[in-house]
Amino acid sequence: MVKLLFLAALLTGAPSTIAQTSVPTPRELQTGNLWIRAVASPNYHKYLQTKPANVPGIAILDSYTTAGQFNIVDGQLVNKVANPPLYMWVEEPADKANPPRTLSTWFNTTKNPFGTFNFQGDTVAWSVPSVKRQNTAAWLVCKNQQLFINTGAYAYQTPSGCADQTIHYYNDKTANN
Ligand SMILES: *[C@@H]1O[C@H](CO)[C@@H](O)[C@H](O)[C@H]1NC(C)=O
Repeated sequence: MVKLLFLAALLTGAPSTIAQTSVPTPRELQTGNLWIRAVASPNYHKYLQTKPANVPGIAILDSYTTAGQFNIVDGQLVNKVANPPLYMWVEEPADKANPPRTLSTWFNTTKNPFGTFNFQGDTVAWSVPSVKRQNTAAWLVCKNQQLFINTGAYAYQTPSGCADQTIHYYNDKTANN
């Protein structure tokens, strides 16, 4: 419930207890960082970020002009452009044997306690032993460009209003369209 209230506060713009300033992400990739983006329609070259940039908030895929910079370090998907750094969190379902189809993702100032991120080649995957998934690289982008873990199969019975996506790192100097 605390988590939901916090998310509600983020969504409504109510003051949160975490003092952090939105700074634009540099347009050139900083050493040790990567862009993360989808490469298929309808989110082709939409990039991982928060809005406003570099403050705690829900994870979205949006324009290359505001693309965030990230990396995966010790199983954490981290934004080190933000000060303090931000970590991607994954919603922990009450019933892990029968989880909801989508698990929400957001950024917080503390490390994600639920599951592990890794790269499979250039593809971002997330897994946790307690939740069985057919495809650990399956994501869904739904209303307002919000990014979710897809606990089901990729491109199978896609929830209404969502699009199946995989997300990939990209390490060219600038994010492109
Ligand atoms: C953010 O992290 C703090 C400290 O771990 C935790 O108490 C809080 O519930 C988290 N909030 C969200 C929205 O993840």
